[in-house]
Amino acid sequence: VENGLGLTPPMGWNSWNHFQCNINEEMIRETADAMVSTGLADLGYQYINLDDCWAELDRDSEGNMVPKASKFPSGIKALADYVHSKGLKMGIYSDAGNQTCSKQMPRSLGHEEQDAKTFASWGIDFLKYDNCENLNISPKDRYPKMSEALLNSGRPIFFSMCEWGQEDPELWAKSVGNRWRTTGDIEDKWESMINIADANDKWASYAGPGGWNDPDMLEVGNGGMTTEEYRSHYSIWALAKAPLLIGCDVRTMDSTTFELLSNKEVIAVNQDSLGVQGRKVKSDAGLEVWAGPLSDNKVAVVLLNRSLSKATVNASWSDVGLDPEKTVDARDLWEHSTQTSVSGQISADLDSHVSKMYVLTPNN
Ligand code: DGJ
Repeated sequence: VENGLGLTPPMGWNSWNHFQCNINEEMIRETADAMVSTGLADLGYQYINLDDCWAELDRDSEGNMVPKASKFPSGIKALADYVHSKGLKMGIYSDAGNQTCSKQMPRSLGHEEQDAKTFASWGIDFLKYDNCENLNISPKDRYPKMSEALLNSGRPIFFSMCEWGQEDPELWAKSVGNRWRTTGDIEDKWESMINIADANDKWASYAGPGGWNDPDMLEVGNGGMTTEEYRSHYSIWALAKAPLLIGCDVRTMDSTTFELLSNKEVIAVNQDSLGVQGRKVKSDAGLEVWAGPLSDNKVAVVLLNRSLSKATVNASWSDVGLDPEKTVDARDLWEHSTQTSVSGQISADLDSHVSKMYVLTPNN
């Protein structure tokens, strides 16, 4: 959508994956504090996004959405002011249907203009727009109304459509939203995460500056996968130009989680100005190569062992779109080490569910 936003994939935090409906203004303020004090904000994580359950079920007598008094007694405007005072941006959530998925909040369907104006008046910068209770009306007929309402709201608001891949995004999504969900909800498990990566891959060609495929928010730090599985999760999300929305409790995250979320070189791949979604380019009995072009003729590569036993994963230059005659400097983004003048291919011995991520820079 032509609102000038999302020229690179958005980065930030969202309440749902860790807290579901257990949110309140104090923990959101503490989260904003932690984003700054840990240094995540400086690395580009900007958005602090509320998900479901922030509003009262009933609108007020004038039809306005009302923040849940028991959880947000100071109101959303005060919270957004606080978030902005930290140099961050504030996101909110609604649903293009009869009710939100929690059934604890009202619908925005039919209230698009009014709700967009309310959000703008509160200083909202980002809207996630969910798909529950949707009356079996196609997203193509529900989401454009909110998109237009946001454009008319007088404030630039990133529009994040959460329609779970219900319609092939090709012909409509990019002109309506800044990102669109391609799959159902992620769970904090290897199988869920890796199947979503595949489902999101098939629409890679539609992504680009201003409009991104969204394979859902990160589970890194929530405890259901091993560190190496989370590294694979983060590496593929970064390579696939997925929005990097942290889904753990950043107030209490451990140093391993912080290390995964704060790798500048991996973030730079995600935020590369070329904006081309990396894809799965080779798959052989669970030994996978994911790759995509970066600016300045560089190439990002993830080698992934999805099989159940240790194996060697191998990517040749032709697999990853490089001239076979070239030599490259291969930067290992997690080891922070460089192999110089590598020719022909790159390979690694990897345990099950382990990956390696590289940037290849041609020498000649
Ligand atoms: C479904 C969405 O896909 C999730 O990301 C989350 O927003 C929940 N709804 C909230 O109810």
